Amino acid sequence: QAFPHYKFVVKEVPYTKLCSTKNILTVNGQFPGPTLYVNKGDTIVVDVYNRGKYNITIHWHGVLQPRNPWSDGPEHITQCAIQPGAKFRQKIIFTTEEGTLWWHAHSTWLRTTVHGALIIYPKTGTSYPFPKPDAEIPIILGDWWKEDIMELYEILERNGDDVQFNSEAFLINGQPGDLCPCSKPETFKLKVNRGSTYLLRIVNSILVDSLFFSVANHTVTVVGSDASYLKPFKTSFIFLPAGQTVDVLLEANQSPNHYYMAASVYSIRDIGDYNNSTTTAIVEYNGNYTPSSPPVFPDLPSHSDTGAGLNFTASLRSLADKEHPVDVPMEINTHLFYTLSINAPCKNHSCPDGKIRTLASVNNISFINPSIDILQAYYCCIHGVYGANFPDFPQLWFDFAAEVYPMDWEIPQLGTEVKMLDYNSTVELVFQGTNLLRGSDHPMHLHGYHFYVVGLGMGNFDKDKDPLMYNLVDPPVQNTIHVPKIGWVAIRFKATNPGVWYMHCHFDHHMVWGMDTVFIVKDGESPEAKMLPPPPDMPPC
Ligand code: C2O
Ligand code: CU
Repeated sequence: QAFPHYKFVVKEVPYTKLCSTKNILTVNGQFPGPTLYVNKGDTIVVDVYNRGKYNITIHWHGVLQPRNPWSDGPEHITQCAIQPGAKFRQKIIFTTEEGTLWWHAHSTWLRTTVHGALIIYPKTGTSYPFPKPDAEIPIILGDWWKEDIMELYEILERNGDDVQFNSEAFLINGQPGDLCPCSKPETFKLKVNRGSTYLLRIVNSILVDSLFFSVANHTVTVVGSDASYLKPFKTSFIFLPAGQTVDVLLEANQSPNHYYMAASVYSIRDIGDYNNSTTTAIVEYNGNYTPSSPPVFPDLPSHSDTGAGLNFTASLRSLADKEHPVDVPMEINTHLFYTLSINAPCKNHSCPDGKIRTLASVNNISFINPSIDILQAYYCCIHGVYGANFPDFPQLWFDFAAEVYPMDWEIPQLGTEVKMLDYNSTVELVFQGTNLLRGSDHPMHLHGYHFYVVGLGMGNFDKDKDPLMYNLVDPPVQNTIHVPKIGWVAIRFKATNPGVWYMHCHFDHHMVWGMDTVFIVKDGESPEAKMLPPPPDMPPC
């Protein structure tokens, strides 16, 4: 069968931003990388050639990859890295996704510059559940780091939070915007005709931050997220947890002028004098008029406005109509409760080696990368690579929202434990943020599945009361969900995709510190319920 075919050549090229030039790793020399366009239900083949100097893998964020974890991409989980000089052919199988997703490197911190958008159009002959826009524009929110990203990664692995995690600037479609030095001429400009409607397909590819995004003087209509349609709603800003995508309609219905579209950081961490936390692009009306100078700037929520983020997330509702049915599992046979914590490796942080380090954990287990990938170990029955004892519940129940904790509780176990799921299991998973070491938000992402977000709230999850408030009628279908600091989120999914599937915080420093784990979904009985065999060219370990 001949599938559409793409070539990704991973290589370093020089880019100049913010008055200085450095080599960055790219796909095909492009930053952001190439946008791929497909129709719902397509299969494509991508040949990845590693012509750079680092090990790399590529992941198709939010694509189910039914029965085909072999092409999913996370290093240590479903494959070993594609080494410099090597090549790997990946088969991307699109099924129910429709809207916007993205692809990115999934090894070390290389996704900073190695990423791009995936645009999934409706099947030929079908159309959007909203009026056809006059034009469509991918908006990729990214960041630019002064430091060499691999050096930063290595420092981070060794020293934990000694590193400053602030990029030099955020970017819109690769550009910092005209408020930043040396950036004016390249500032991304969207030229619009008054009366027309534009579909903005927005991706948050930023390494360690969630964002607010807004267009001055315009309300936008949210129509989709994570390649799944939503009941349209109007809003003056959108909230984008790291890794998530949001599709909005922008109506050019204001008086002809120049307007900024801007993205600013949402963070409850101490951002200090982090004053380069806003990036801009320009919406410019066509026609003859004298534009205001400077362009009109939007109102964005303040960087620590937890309520704004939470309200936005809570307003997402799936379409839940005949063409887009909701099949949220009603009878749950697998109840999971996972705490998300920031941890210290030793009491008072004083480890024998005297280094200050930070760890992170799920149910108090800080994930250690295995030496060969878990998928291979599972498929080829290689023992001793991972354990199958990931706990369904925390071993210790406590007030997760408390201000102070006994020091001992800050210390996690280290391990490579996975949770085994029977095919067709109906799973409810509650994520509980904890305030250990002052806590953090966590944009949690699951590979191989789209899940229903049935509930969310602040404080400790109450297993008697909170489920009574679940939305089982039109919950949104997501692959990434923002779990607020000392708050909780409940998701449901049915384990119909056999394979090895990664789950992790999409803040890459938390992932490096161990906030990741794995589901292994066993094969079912019928041939269509079994994992596909591996391709012949899996990269060797
Ligand atoms: Cu967007 Cu595991 O990643
Ligand atoms: Cu996190």
